[in-house]
Amino acid sequence: MTNALMELVNVDKSFGSTKALSNVSMKIEPGKILCLLGDNGAGKSTLIKILSGIHQPTRGAMKFEGVEMKFSSPREARQRGIATVHQDVGSIPLMSVGRNFFLGAECVRGRWPFRQIDTKQANLIAIEQMRKFGITRISDGRQLVGTMSGGERQVLSIGRAMYFGAKILILDEPTSALGVKEAAMVLKMMLIARESGVGIVFITHNARHAMTVGDNFCVLIQGRVAASFARGAKTREEVLNLMAGGEDISELEQSLDIGD
Ligand SMILES: Nc1ncnc2c1ncn2[C@@H]1O[C@H](COP(=O)(O)OP(=O)(O)OP(=O)(O)O)[C@@H](O)[C@H]1O
Ligand SMILES: [Mg+2]
Repeated sequence: MTNALMELVNVDKSFGSTKALSNVSMKIEPGKILCLLGDNGAGKSTLIKILSGIHQPTRGAMKFEGVEMKFSSPREARQRGIATVHQDVGSIPLMSVGRNFFLGAECVRGRWPFRQIDTKQANLIAIEQMRKFGITRISDGRQLVGTMSGGERQVLSIGRAMYFGAKILILDEPTSALGVKEAAMVLKMMLIARESGVGIVFITHNARHAMTVGDNFCVLIQGRVAASFARGAKTREEVLNLMAGGEDISELEQSLDIGD
C-alpha cells in the first residue's frame, strides 16, 4: 500500500552538532489530514522546511508520488504542488486581497499564466474563491489584506493553494493565534480541502484542534517520532501526555484549568 503523495524515510537533519531530526519516517496521503504535534523545539518547523524544499535531509530519503527525489529549492517544491502556509501569513498587510491571491502564482500549476491576468480579473477571482469558502464580508478585491482577520487570511491562503492545484498543503500553526469562531472557520476550510483530495499536514500545539479534524497523527519529541497513530487510537489525554514527553500533565492541567 503506497498511495502516499509524499513520504519521508528515515530522515535525519543536523545543524552542526544539533540533531534536529532523527530517523523520521512519515507518509502524506491524499484526502487525509496528518497532524504533526510536538512541543517547542521538537523539530516541527525543520520537518516542514524539508517537505517544502527549504532544507535538504542530512540522511534518509524523500519520495514524491513514489519516486525518490530531492528538492533543490522551495520553488521546485511549489512547482510540484506543495503549498506551505506559514504562520505569518498575510504579513504584507498593505497588499490588496487580489494581488496577494496571485502572489507567487507563477511558481504553481496555474490555470492561467499569472501575467495574463489583469488586476480586475485577479480581484474577482480572489473574491469568488473566498465566497466559496464562506467569507462574504470581503466584497472588493482591492481591500487590503491588513483589514482581514487572522482566520480570513488563513482561508484566503488555503483557497489560493487549492485554486492553483496544490496536491499537498502544509499549514504551520494555522489556528494558534485565533479565537474559537475563527479557528472553527479554518478547521472547516481544512475539511473542504481534504474533501477535494488534497493531502494536508497540520502543525499544531492544540490537541483538541488536531483531534477534531485529524486522520493521522505524528508526535515529535526532540526530533524523533515518539508516536504515530490513526484517528481513534488514542484519547486526548493520552495525546497531551505524549506531547509532554510522557509526563502526566492532567493534574497540572486541572489545577490551572487550561485543558483546552
Ligand atoms: N537553521 C538552524 N540552525 C541551527 N539549529 C537549528 C536551525 N533550525 C532549527 N534548529 C534547531 O533544531 C531544533 C528543532 O527546531 P524547530 O524549529 O524545528 O522546532 P519546532 O518544533 O518548530 O519548535 P517551535 O514549536 O518552537 O516552533 C531546535 O533545537 C533548533 O534550535
Ligand atoms: Mg516551529
